[in-house]
Amino acid sequence: MYRAVITGVGGYVPDYVLTNEELSTIVDTNDEWIMTRTGIKERRILKEGATSTLAARAVDELLKKTNTKPEEVDLIILATVTPDMRVPSTANIIQEKLGLVNAWGFDFQAGCSGFLFGIEIVQRFVESGRYKKAILVGADLMSSITNYKDRNTCILFGDGAAAIMVEPQENSEFGIIDTQNYCDSTNGAIECLNVKRHGSAYPLTPETCLLDEQFVYQDGKRVFVRAVKGMADVVEEVMVRNHLSKENLAWLVPHQANKRIIDAARDRAGLTEDKVMINIHKYGNTTNATIPLCLWEYEKQLKKGDNLMLCAFGAGYTWGAAYVKWAY
Ligand code: UT7
Repeated sequence: MYRAVITGVGGYVPDYVLTNEELSTIVDTNDEWIMTRTGIKERRILKEGATSTLAARAVDELLKKTNTKPEEVDLIILATVTPDMRVPSTANIIQEKLGLVNAWGFDFQAGCSGFLFGIEIVQRFVESGRYKKAILVGADLMSSITNYKDRNTCILFGDGAAAIMVEPQENSEFGIIDTQNYCDSTNGAIECLNVKRHGSAYPLTPETCLLDEQFVYQDGKRVFVRAVKGMADVVEEVMVRNHLSKENLAWLVPHQANKRIIDAARDRAGLTEDKVMINIHKYGNTTNATIPLCLWEYEKQLKKGDNLMLCAFGAGYTWGAAYVKWAY
């Protein structure tokens, strides 16, 4: 039996730092409100380029760190809500930029849970034994769908990308051990968190091209309540199923949407703050990049055999958790 094992992480964040102070000059907000309500101090913004710019840099670093030649990669999967174009997939654009000539791949989206869903997707591909070097990327240019006139949302998001290498190892005790993902679109979920334009239900016309519906809309309070419950419940479920406890879990790796949501999930799991990966204060919510960016930043602190619990909640609603035993 093959196990899908994470063998490397690469990441990239743009240089430009958009601080709470600068945002306070654009909309009616302030550092104190943003920090208390979200835990975000600053976020990174790409001034020139697209999602593929961020993703290609992250994948390029991953190839270098894992001593992988571009032609050795046989699969590339990208979780993103901000593809470069409607067609083709941004995975194709990354393939072309980096010369991944033997890889096929595709984009998919599951709101902020994309990377978690991607963990299960890549796990199934690699466990089959057919793919030897698969890359899963989480990348988003959130600044391209953020309304910088809306203080409810513009303080939340940032740009970034990170990628993992996943390889099959026979009968390994390490790797992606267990996953659990969910969707529930009842009770107004679709209306609470969306980007309406320019999907097929809300096509682009001269009359609609300037509407705010091209940006992220969120009913923050309603999403908050569901996010706390969704993340905490699924973490508990996967912990119980795998006999994990606060003693033998090394790290919680949560989606970085709001520090208060992270704290609630941590409390439910009975974990102390030093066991939780956090970078929301520096990068805000980078949507599909939050979890792999955490792995990227904390990589040096990880030890072989560490038990990690990844978890996310996002638009749809979508949510999930994954139990990973770190392999290096
Ligand atoms: O990643 C995908 C999933 N998304 C999430 O998990 C996000 C979940 N939601 C949240 O994180 C929080 O709901 C937010 C951070 C988005 C908002 O925090 P909140 O504590 O729920 O605030 P609120 O939206 O209820 O707003 C409270 C007050 C309002 O004023 P009134 O109506 O009480 O007078 C807002 O108008 O704060 C006001 N407000 C602001 N004030 C200063 C909203 N945004 C701002 C702002 N600066 N940027």
